[in-house]
Amino acid sequence: MGSSFDHPRRLRRLTVVGGLAAALALGTVSAAIGGVPAQGSSGAGLTAAATSALLKDYDHEIIDQFDSANSVNHIRQLAVNIGPRLNGTPQEREGAEYIGGILKSYGFDVTLQSWGPVSTKNVAKVTSPNADLPGGPNWQMAASTSAKFTGNDAAVEGQVVYAKTGQSAADFPADTAGKIVLMDYSTTASVRNTAVINAASQGAVAVILAYATGNNAPPSFTLTTAQPNIPVMGGGSAHSTWIKSLLDKGPLTLRVTTNQYVNPMGTNVIGIRHAVGDPDGTKAPIVMVGAHIDSVLGAPGAHDDASGNGVSLEIARVLSQYPLDKELRIGGFGGEEGGLLGARAYVNTLTAAEKARFVGEWQMDMVGTPYEPARLWALTPNGQSNYVVQEAYNAGARVGFDGLRNCRLGQSDHQAFFDVGIPSSLFIWLDYRPPAPPAVCGPTGGTYVTEPQYHKPTDTMDNISPERLQVTLDVVGGAVAHNALNAVTVSAVSDGDQPLAGAPVRADCGNGLRDLGTTGADGRLQAVLPHATCDFTTTVDGRVANERGVSIAGDQAVKMTVDLTKPTISLTRPTDGAVFELGTAATASYRCDDNLAGVATCVGTVPDGSALDTSTVGFHEFTVNATDKAGNATDKKVTYQVVYPWKAYFPETMNGKANSAVPIKFGLGGNRGLGVIAAGYPVSQPVSCDTGKATGASEPTSGPGNSKLSYEDGQYSYVWKTDKSWSGTCRTFELTLNDGSSHFTTISLK
Ligand code: BES
Ligand code: ZN
Repeated sequence: MGSSFDHPRRLRRLTVVGGLAAALALGTVSAAIGGVPAQGSSGAGLTAAATSALLKDYDHEIIDQFDSANSVNHIRQLAVNIGPRLNGTPQEREGAEYIGGILKSYGFDVTLQSWGPVSTKNVAKVTSPNADLPGGPNWQMAASTSAKFTGNDAAVEGQVVYAKTGQSAADFPADTAGKIVLMDYSTTASVRNTAVINAASQGAVAVILAYATGNNAPPSFTLTTAQPNIPVMGGGSAHSTWIKSLLDKGPLTLRVTTNQYVNPMGTNVIGIRHAVGDPDGTKAPIVMVGAHIDSVLGAPGAHDDASGNGVSLEIARVLSQYPLDKELRIGGFGGEEGGLLGARAYVNTLTAAEKARFVGEWQMDMVGTPYEPARLWALTPNGQSNYVVQEAYNAGARVGFDGLRNCRLGQSDHQAFFDVGIPSSLFIWLDYRPPAPPAVCGPTGGTYVTEPQYHKPTDTMDNISPERLQVTLDVVGGAVAHNALNAVTVSAVSDGDQPLAGAPVRADCGNGLRDLGTTGADGRLQAVLPHATCDFTTTVDGRVANERGVSIAGDQAVKMTVDLTKPTISLTRPTDGAVFELGTAATASYRCDDNLAGVATCVGTVPDGSALDTSTVGFHEFTVNATDKAGNATDKKVTYQVVYPWKAYFPETMNGKANSAVPIKFGLGGNRGLGVIAAGYPVSQPVSCDTGKATGASEPTSGPGNSKLSYEDGQYSYVWKTDKSWSGTCRTFELTLNDGSSHFTTISLK
């Protein structure tokens, strides 16, 4: 670890972007999405949740739950407690049953599929009643067909002695009789024959011929002479090393059984979790994760490929908590090491219609060795990227992992899916070396170096890196999760239908407000959601688009229109400048409209339809405030005038005398008191008798001249003292009342 390719655990969280098509016009709560009626929602939950911390988007919520410690436990169960799982042996089936049991506990429908027969397997199982065997309690060696098959019921148990090459009596300890004899394996058949003959004659109860050096797997061999009636088996160099080091510490007892499984059947386990709304599994898209159960003879197969199942099961666990509209399949295939036998048997059972439903198959094989040069690769049979690979890249980007590379390789079960046209890729931590440019992965492919433990008895828990398993979970599991959820394109547009970039998209799918990220330059955000009813919301310039109750069932689009336009106010009464006589009955009339066919809150000085205030004379302000759902607000202010019922008892033009008292009489519909004249009035102003145009400044009529107002018998009388100097001129007389009305007469003065 520690290289640039490595991915520190829980270093994550980028943002999701993407795009599809839009369907729902927001602002129309009754609009339908994908045939599903949208429900209006109260929005009350939104407000409440908005104040608390936001939940993560579903991609990150799911990734956060992936825990490679759970994968490690599954790997231990398979590689240690069950041990080597050679195709066609009971251990392959036990592996399938274990995986099936876990999947059942997660609510999957589980099928064990038997297929075959396959070639006969000759295996020895080696355990110890008194020692902790390195690498795990269940060793597997190759049983020689020339010797005895004990079966499970006639196990041979004995102390172990080491007899070197066993070529002479001197190689054997004195107390060899009744013991299990370990000798160094020779590649020469005659040497092996001699060793076994010698051991048998010394009274050995079982013989192990194990490679002394060379990091070798257990050898299968026959004996050309003197077939002994004791079990004989070939061990790997690790077995030899481990036994010798145990013997250095003291007596070691081993217990061996040898079995011949004649043309046995192989086993696959298939877990299916049906999509919501497709319980029979006839139409939902299928997202499949595969791994192989079997290991090569003698190898616990912790990395190859218990690790793949460990990751598959952890993905299954987390996804099983979500209602999904995709069908999830977890495959544990047997016989991979025999030539992709189980996976080929499985794809042969798929109907054309079923194959057509596959989104892809993500094959997990060797998904986390600590071997330093290994990196995470997405390897395809033709070396080209495909949907499954691309989705893994995208998932890597979401968690900040850019170490994934794509090149060419078959050699695992993804090949079987590829061969029937299903997009697939092998995900593997491997020291893979792509071809040197200008060669490309497509036609050429690269080479690779496996970790030393590969296909060896040393492929134990020590060959497992929890950190790298976690990367696989986050990146490849993240891709699987992303595809198992519904893709929803959320777009934010203005009410003028312009895309709104950078709009924060949130959704409440029933458990609180969730941050789905922000829209891109095209106003869109690609989010993934489980099968749920979600209320989407966004806020742009303080304007909220929400209350979108959307039933998510299948991939779809949600369009949020953000209302950025102010509502309109139509004010019919009072209009600006309207005049009402004092005490007349008049009702207010107005309405407010939102441009998105929504109702705007509309509040006037008095409610629409209610009486206007005409009880006091003068100018009155009338205001209407309108606020739409998004919070756009506007107002309209008008002024209307309430006046006395006016009656003039004087003509528009009249003749009078200078230096006299001219009475100006008028009625105001009753006695309104003597304070009815506006301050500073009446005034008079000289005008041309010909044109009526002003010829001088206006001046108050009051003052020392003793002008005066009186009221009597329904009439007001204002006695205007005219000046002597005004003789022979014309003047206008202006009377402005405290209701704001002005009244004029022009007088020609003698
Ligand atoms: N897990 C390996 C796949 C693999 C590929 C490992 C490349 C290392 C490098 C798989 O289990 C395996 O061993 N496959 C066989 C081929 C298969 C068709 C029998 C192999 O690569 O030899
Ligand atoms: Zn393998």
